[in-house]
Amino acid sequence: MPEYERHDYDVIVIGAGGAGLRAAIEASARGCRTALVCKSLLGKAHTVMAEGGIAAALGNVWPQDNWEVHFRDTMRGGKMLNNWRMAQLHAQEAPERVRELEEWGALFDRTNDGRILQRDFGGHRYARLAHVGDRTGLELIRTLQQHAVHKGIDVFMECTVTRLLKDGDRVSGAVAYWRESGNLVVFAAKAVVLATGGVGKAFAVTSNSWEYTGDGHALAYEAGAELIDMECVQFHPTGMVWPPSVRGILVTEGVRGDGGTLRNSDGERFMFDYIPDFFRAETADTVAEADAWYEDKENNRRTPDLLPRDEVARAINAEVKAGRGSPHGGVFLDIAARRPAEYIRRRLPSMYHQFKQLADVDITAQSMEVGPTMHYIMGGVRVDADTAATTVPGLFAAGECAGGMHGANRLGGNSLSDLVVFGRRAGMGAAADAAAVDAPAVDDAQVEAVAAEMNAPFAREDGEGPYDIQRDLQETMHTLAGIIRTEAELLEARERIAALRERAARVRVHGHRQYNPGWHLALDLPALLTVSEATARAANLRRESRGGHTRDDYPDPDDGWGGRNVVVRRGADGAMDVSTAPLPEMPAELRRLFEE
Ligand code: FUM
Repeated sequence: MPEYERHDYDVIVIGAGGAGLRAAIEASARGCRTALVCKSLLGKAHTVMAEGGIAAALGNVWPQDNWEVHFRDTMRGGKMLNNWRMAQLHAQEAPERVRELEEWGALFDRTNDGRILQRDFGGHRYARLAHVGDRTGLELIRTLQQHAVHKGIDVFMECTVTRLLKDGDRVSGAVAYWRESGNLVVFAAKAVVLATGGVGKAFAVTSNSWEYTGDGHALAYEAGAELIDMECVQFHPTGMVWPPSVRGILVTEGVRGDGGTLRNSDGERFMFDYIPDFFRAETADTVAEADAWYEDKENNRRTPDLLPRDEVARAINAEVKAGRGSPHGGVFLDIAARRPAEYIRRRLPSMYHQFKQLADVDITAQSMEVGPTMHYIMGGVRVDADTAATTVPGLFAAGECAGGMHGANRLGGNSLSDLVVFGRRAGMGAAADAAAVDAPAVDDAQVEAVAAEMNAPFAREDGEGPYDIQRDLQETMHTLAGIIRTEAELLEARERIAALRERAARVRVHGHRQYNPGWHLALDLPALLTVSEATARAANLRRESRGGHTRDDYPDPDDGWGGRNVVVRRGADGAMDVSTAPLPEMPAELRRLFEE
């Protein structure tokens, strides 16, 4: 039996971004002995990459805004694939969560009369994003982190969870390792909350950092939970494209929200050529009308630069393919022509420094070169909207690793609000669940099996290192399961992923367990392969285009598919099973919002 340290809790939360922190705060406030376990350092989560703001119908800039309008925008942005109840709770509760953040010390930018200021973002009918310059995610993390630390929550940093433990059907804890020493840690817990974020590191160009390897998706899948909508992947339209070392780093939508416009190499505002019928009524169709909107937002239709992200990313992709891209394979984003330098530096300080320091571009005078970057996965663990419970007893999920809230495409700014709304609900759900069960048993045989699997890469005499396998996977996902897909490409992706799985089963690492990044990546590979396979299979099954899932061979939305989730689960034989299930039916009083 391997040596391990053991910790017993009522609730453990895996992941310390916005959702994890908020879940831990709630579980702790409800009297649970709570631990927060995170792969990286506290404060370093993809939450900080939601730069431009947190969406909430506060009505500070537009008094006519309310939760019903926010709900409708979210559902339309998600191409109606959203879990309606999640979208409803999100829109209703986001304002309260923003005010709570303010009470806990978040310093939002203000209107002239001292209320929380709100900025425009794509797909939101009204300026709705509370923000702190272009560092909103950072402020949210800072605030929640301070609050959590003061609650006395135990934090296990640089501690990676590799497997969930089960006691019968129920999740009973987790096995993890310290990244520094390589030593094993076992958490026994009455309830476990997954809040591990996304899967960006399965793709070649991404705004995500090294931690985002689909851990929570894969942990849930292995434990028997269902994943939904894994085909729906969001490419943020504006990532940096040059120099190569920074390709993919996010350029906040706040640039366009604050007046930035997109142009191709002919200098054309090309977004006017890509307005879908779905959004035509509210979108300006001439440059003159869009320019008028910047001056008088009440009486004019919105600029097409602020269409939802899926529309803008596809348009940029098409312009580049048509040979109208910028020198380094993107398009131009310019805010200098519309806004004075002082305004840009005040509203977008991170963007100003990011471009100056990383690309030697002064955005107060020059255009940026930008292109799509894999930013977010809408698909995730299927959860109950009210409690965040998964289909496995004792297991909860919130934030990016949970599915349903955003449907086929997430609106910018809806992620930060999702984190705090459903992080809180997951904490409540887990606390209630933990109160109803006895302390779980830890099965040493399960721990032993996990430990043997983790050590295997050291024992192999041949086999390859993990880096080439990850790079080949990223290339596969980027070229064959990226922004535009076809059946032939997706089938090839599946074949390549199967071959990569065989290579990963023989992965070999050198050295010892103490701070060994090659070993860490070798342990991440199974999760990366699971989420990639889920995306490729689900994308092949959904024979239509919807939001962040575009099929060249099925270019239109299909009403039949629009009413169904693609569900991925582990079959009895251990193979991945992909099927469909009807969406929960929206009640008539909400349906009427779309009829109007
Ligand atoms: O563009 C951004 O600032 C990102 C925001 C988000 O993903 O919600």
